Amino acid sequence: MEIHIENLSKNYGSQKAVDGITFDVRPGEVLGFLGPNGAGKSTTMKMITGYLSIGEGDVSVGGKSVREYGDELKRHIGYLPENNPLYLDMPVIDYLEFCGALQGMSPGSVQQRLKEMIRVCGLNAEKHKKIGELSKGFRQRVGLAQAMIHDPEILVLDEPTTGLDPNQIVEIRNLIRELGKEKTVVLSTHILPEVEATCDRILIINKGKIVANGTADTLRKQATGQEVIRLKIEDARVEEVIEALRKMPTVDTIEVIDKERNRLEVQSRTGLSSTREIFHLCVQKGWILSELTPLETRLEDIFRNLTTN
Ligand SMILES: Nc1ncnc2c1ncn2[C@@H]1O[C@H](COP(=O)(O)OP(=O)(O)OP(=O)(O)O)[C@@H](O)[C@H]1O
Ligand SMILES: [Mg+2]
Repeated sequence: MEIHIENLSKNYGSQKAVDGITFDVRPGEVLGFLGPNGAGKSTTMKMITGYLSIGEGDVSVGGKSVREYGDELKRHIGYLPENNPLYLDMPVIDYLEFCGALQGMSPGSVQQRLKEMIRVCGLNAEKHKKIGELSKGFRQRVGLAQAMIHDPEILVLDEPTTGLDPNQIVEIRNLIRELGKEKTVVLSTHILPEVEATCDRILIINKGKIVANGTADTLRKQATGQEVIRLKIEDARVEEVIEALRKMPTVDTIEVIDKERNRLEVQSRTGLSSTREIFHLCVQKGWILSELTPLETRLEDIFRNLTTN
């Protein structure tokens, strides 16, 4: 099932929380939703899942508008809300059974999925405790189990790894990756390495508007447009190296990082790459190329550039 979002907006009073955003999420895709606090991520996710009425525009899931088919579509959507509201007095098992029943599952299939979710979310030792007695990370795991209990085709996860310990973060990321092969997943996060680890595509939103949409690689290319590589060339005089590099048509600027060790940073002209030529140059001159590292623009920098105005 695919999600199609068309010119979606939402106001809270005079405050514009979401401001005319349009994007699609395809089946088998994990979309990472990034943005600073207050950007409109949770508001968008609530409208996708039908937990908040749509202001303007539309959301359709599998070709059906959430405006018209909201209740029907909820069966196909698993949602982990931001503050993960849970019934604190209920034991974990009872709560998950209750969630399955609410989704219209038969008691038999609830029992089967329950076992599966308890295993997958690492809840076995805590399953008889009341939710109110659980630590924060375990409550988050219950929230995830709840979102997945009815095996929905669409998963909308608002900051799914918040509060989890590093081991569980790795497990949940792997789980999301695995789920993402078949399902349509939208997740929000503030953890930038997380989007790279789990998401096929990144959407950055700022002040209710989309400011970037693409893979981490595409965003990097758009952000720099210029290749920067770090080199270390041995058995050569640095002046000679610089002179040879200057003659290359692909090279834009050369910066000496460490004169003693012949370490340089070379920036290519927009859209061009110098790596092959540099390699050939070294072979031809009999120089030892002991380091050639492309320097990537960090996702953090891209994020900051796009969201600090
Ligand atoms: N119930 C509400 N009433 C009034 N304003 C709200 C309400 N919920 C959200 N807002 C406002 O809408 C804007 C977007 O909020 P939203 O929760 O969608 O941001 P977010 O991107 O999820 O932020 P965070 O990263 O902090 O979770 C914010 O300015 C927020 O104050
Ligand atoms: Mg939020």
